[in-house]
Amino acid sequence: MAEFEGRVAIVTGASRGLGRAIAELLVAEGGHVVIADVLADEGRAAAGALGAAARFCRTDISDKAQVEALVDFALSEFGGLDAMVNNAGLSDNSYGSLLDADFGDFDKVMRVNVLGTMLGTQFAGRAMAARGGGSIVNISSIGGTRAGWGLPIYRASKTAVVGFTKCAALELAEANIRVNAICPGNVPTDMGTFAIGDDDEKTRRLREAVGEARMRFQPLKRQATPRDIAEGVLYFAGARSPQVTAQIMAIDGGLTAGDPYSQIGAIMAARAQVEAEF
Ligand SMILES: NC(=O)c1ccc[n+]([C@@H]2O[C@H](COP(=O)([O-])OP(=O)(O)OC[C@H]3O[C@@H](n4cnc5c(N)ncnc54)[C@H](O)[C@@H]3O)[C@@H](O)[C@H]2O)c1
Repeated sequence: MAEFEGRVAIVTGASRGLGRAIAELLVAEGGHVVIADVLADEGRAAAGALGAAARFCRTDISDKAQVEALVDFALSEFGGLDAMVNNAGLSDNSYGSLLDADFGDFDKVMRVNVLGTMLGTQFAGRAMAARGGGSIVNISSIGGTRAGWGLPIYRASKTAVVGFTKCAALELAEANIRVNAICPGNVPTDMGTFAIGDDDEKTRRLREAVGEARMRFQPLKRQATPRDIAEGVLYFAGARSPQVTAQIMAIDGGLTAGDPYSQIGAIMAARAQVEAEF
């Protein structure tokens, strides 16, 4: 039997990118999915491509009334809600020094990444509690568990998602609702490439160069795909993880585990260079 057979999920931010791959996998595994996004044309096309098992519901996840309406939509279209995937997110695109950042996108990024995740958890949680349980999967980032340079608002927002996930898991456990988070490493979506397109030779080469630069920091020298993240969501959302809650899983090629090079090797090489002079 397919792994998500007969189950219903909402996936936010599923008009494109990781969300779309998550929706595709859940449908391929027998589920019904509501795609929720602010991008209406892309969302309708994504749902249309998945046939009768998918619907699109235009939703701004930072708006309380719209998230409530989204959960009601899933219940009325498919008769239940087993999994909520809070995936939609925004970056602050702030790559410079912290000393120069103007934090102009603070409200926008926090409202989508943090409040949107909280609202999705709350309204889905209410529906799940009334039906005996469910699974909530929040998409954070490696920026939510490991310190780094740049993107200060984004990193703070994704750290908040990690903390919120654990708190929600504790509170919602009594309603048999599991809450877990996935921290993707870099995946070349629109966000993951910092919106470099791929329509000409220059942008193709830019993508390649950025991908190669990233690989220097990642222990596994393989570029992640949206499907890699979707597989993690399927594990948390479905029947294989009934005892798993409050977990934060990195899908990052080992990036957050530590250095992808030998520190001791670098130290020994420095010593050898000095010793060679004597
Ligand atoms: N791609 C990566 O490298 C990467 C790495 C770590 C974490 N993530 C996280 O994964 C998630 C998906 O990222 P992605 O790479 O697919 O990005 P993306 O930009 O390709 O897609 C994000 C989707 O979210 C939607 N969205 C934005 N604001 C919304 C709102 N207010 N309401 C509803 N939908 C909204 C967008 O329209 C878009 O369809 C995000 O939370 C992101 O922070 C991505």
